Amino acid sequence: MNVLGIESSCDETGVALVECAAGGATPVLRAQALHSQIDMHQAYGGVVPELASRDHIRRVLPLTRKVLADAGSSLDEVDVVAFTQGPGLAGALLVGAGVACALGAALGRPVLGVHHLEGHLLSPFLSADPPEFPFVALLVSGGHTQLMRIDDVGSYELLGETIDDAAGEAFDKSAKLMGLGYPGGPALARLAEFGDASVFDLPRPLLHSGTLDFSFAGLKTAVRTRVHKLGSNVCEQDKAHLAAATQEAIVDVLVHKSMAALKETGLKRIVVAGGVGANARLREQLNAQCAKRQIKVHYPELALCTDNGAMIALAAAMRLQRGLAQVRSDHAFNVLPRWPLVG
Ligand code: KG4
Ligand code: ZN
Repeated sequence: MNVLGIESSCDETGVALVECAAGGATPVLRAQALHSQIDMHQAYGGVVPELASRDHIRRVLPLTRKVLADAGSSLDEVDVVAFTQGPGLAGALLVGAGVACALGAALGRPVLGVHHLEGHLLSPFLSADPPEFPFVALLVSGGHTQLMRIDDVGSYELLGETIDDAAGEAFDKSAKLMGLGYPGGPALARLAEFGDASVFDLPRPLLHSGTLDFSFAGLKTAVRTRVHKLGSNVCEQDKAHLAAATQEAIVDVLVHKSMAALKETGLKRIVVAGGVGANARLREQLNAQCAKRQIKVHYPELALCTDNGAMIALAAAMRLQRGLAQVRSDHAFNVLPRWPLVG
């Protein structure tokens, strides 16, 4: 069975074809293509929703053609069309949903709406060393920071989450305060390589709260205060020190809470998913702490950390394999811009 996946929830148009063998083996990625809108939004310092929607419209069909050509396949071989139903920008989601349903109607194939975060969560199953259930998941994207216990596809228990900003937001907003532009996370991480994290002392909110919840708003305020104190003619070296200190504070909290979640659940495996999972310092610190505790840590392939169509096709395929998918054959659609994965 071939599943075509379309991702259009924010500023990346992603399309992929995943093949799912009978018998429950992990689905295989046949081809994927991605267009990032970073260059387009850069001038505005952030994502402009209307421009995002229009660009998804321009990209989605050429990307679909490319994926099918790269896979040596054709639309006739597509058995199910999956799309990101939410959460995300309403207009952007509507593009993927509309195209998926139009394709489904034209081909006479069922259509399946996928939860974006479930896509992130399951994306390590496309890596060379896929995890086994159950595991703890640390989901760290631009809009979400959650720790979950994952027993199987669709069986998710929320252990803790952010009470204000997400980890990705903490990276992005701090980067903006430092004048590093958009997208802030990767820019801040690059600058941090040249800094010494111990030069500035920044808070680690809720580090010892005894819960698995996160809070990053106070850190952002502390960064803002530092930026003001340093003034407008701050030297590049101080900026790098501040970037390193900010990254270290975020990473410290994420790693500390992840270890606490592993201890609380007694599980020996953790999966890290979402854009912030691409952060090298986070990976380094998590690897070190997990090695000490004989815990196996899984990441998606770097290219699949941020938004992509492969994770959407994969999540749909894994749900279909387990009989969990609610496919629609009437080709009517709606999108869910705010859609909690659990709770
Ligand atoms: O999962 P994602 O692509 O989109 C959402 O679903 O939100 O995550 C995007 C987030 C952004 O906040 C971005 O700054 C952050 O992931 N990010 C990073 C890195 N790469 C992406 N943050 C820190 N270090 C990185 N290398
Ligand atoms: Zn995402």
